[in-house]
Amino acid sequence: MTAFDALKAQLPAAPQTWLVTGVAGFIGSNLLEALLQLDQRVVGLDNFATGHQRNLDQVQASVGAERWARFSFTRGDIRDPDTCQTLCKGVDYVLHQAALGSVPRSLEDPLTTHAANNTGFLNMLVAARDARVKRFVYAASSSTYGDHPGLPKVEDVIGKPLSPYAVTKLVNELYADVFGRCYGMESVGLRYFNIFGRRQDPDGAYAAVVPKWVSSMVHNQPVYINGDGETSRDFCYIDNVIQANLLAATSQHADAVYQVYNVAVGDRTTLNQLFESIRSLLAPRFPHLADFKPVYRDFRAGDVRHSLADISKARTRLGYQPTHRIGEGLAEAMDWYVADLAR
Ligand SMILES: NC(=O)c1ccc[n+]([C@@H]2O[C@H](COP(=O)([O-])OP(=O)(O)OC[C@H]3O[C@@H](n4cnc5c(N)ncnc54)[C@H](O)[C@@H]3O)[C@@H](O)[C@H]2O)c1
Repeated sequence: MTAFDALKAQLPAAPQTWLVTGVAGFIGSNLLEALLQLDQRVVGLDNFATGHQRNLDQVQASVGAERWARFSFTRGDIRDPDTCQTLCKGVDYVLHQAALGSVPRSLEDPLTTHAANNTGFLNMLVAARDARVKRFVYAASSSTYGDHPGLPKVEDVIGKPLSPYAVTKLVNELYADVFGRCYGMESVGLRYFNIFGRRQDPDGAYAAVVPKWVSSMVHNQPVYINGDGETSRDFCYIDNVIQANLLAATSQHADAVYQVYNVAVGDRTTLNQLFESIRSLLAPRFPHLADFKPVYRDFRAGDVRHSLADISKARTRLGYQPTHRIGEGLAEAMDWYVADLAR
């Protein structure tokens, strides 16, 4: 069975209606594409704070006119309760991705991050409760592990948050849990580790490490490593994230809901290793990278030193089976990243 067939087998027989918030963003647009490919109906919401029309255009081109007709998009803001109420009506499943990511952004502007990530989240929870959606799946974050030194990270052992962003993601989990206890609303939180893949934005001050480094290397600009490069992360390819979301929404396992799950691979990669993986994938096409070296600078405030997930809970309760390790994901995504730089 192909990965696509496995996803299809997971879904109810009749097409369902899904609300994807943050649909013009990196993860949201990939969820949109997968759902349309699977012949589902999708309602999308985004205010383009960090998302882009070009992401929606790419999905449209990839799925074709017939499937695209099953998508309706609203440009709007989760900070507006009425927008959330309107869009949740008639929805079966919510995949809530809209938020302001980035630890540094939250350090510079905690109020705006709070408004999107907490007020917006609560608006969506209330609207989903009122609309009696079947399940509310939301993007949580590995930042919730905060200062807890234990490795690998296990869901119920967390430390104190290290940034305003991490606080907002922890608060999401608390609210979702309380909505389960008080209103019986089914939710699943997916603690994403470092996600990468097609349609991830390489631009701007808060760009994620993989697209930023690809862009710098291709343009022969310095690649900065914060610290000594031995900081490690559990990098997770977007296809694993799509799988986790669909499983989280539809799993009938008795203990699947009212839970949070690590979404990662269970592989530890240092920044030095990541640098070398990207460089060696690009070097055949860009000869100036044959002897390219990173520039080391100070550690960055709010960053955790090591991050590695134990994914056994998602494996056991959701049936999650990552299809891509970091090397496979990088190799698959690299053509897209390079083509996107010519945009
Ligand atoms: N990418 C990762 O590695 C990672 C890791 C952990 C958690 N997450 C979480 O996953 C989710 C998606 O992240 P992403 O990487 O796709 O980021 P992204 O910035 O590409 O996508 C977020 C989307 O939400 C939209 N948005 C932001 N504020 C909004 C608002 N007030 N109203 C409506 N739309 C709004 C943005 O315009 C954007 O399209 C976020 O909740 C993020 O915190 C991502």
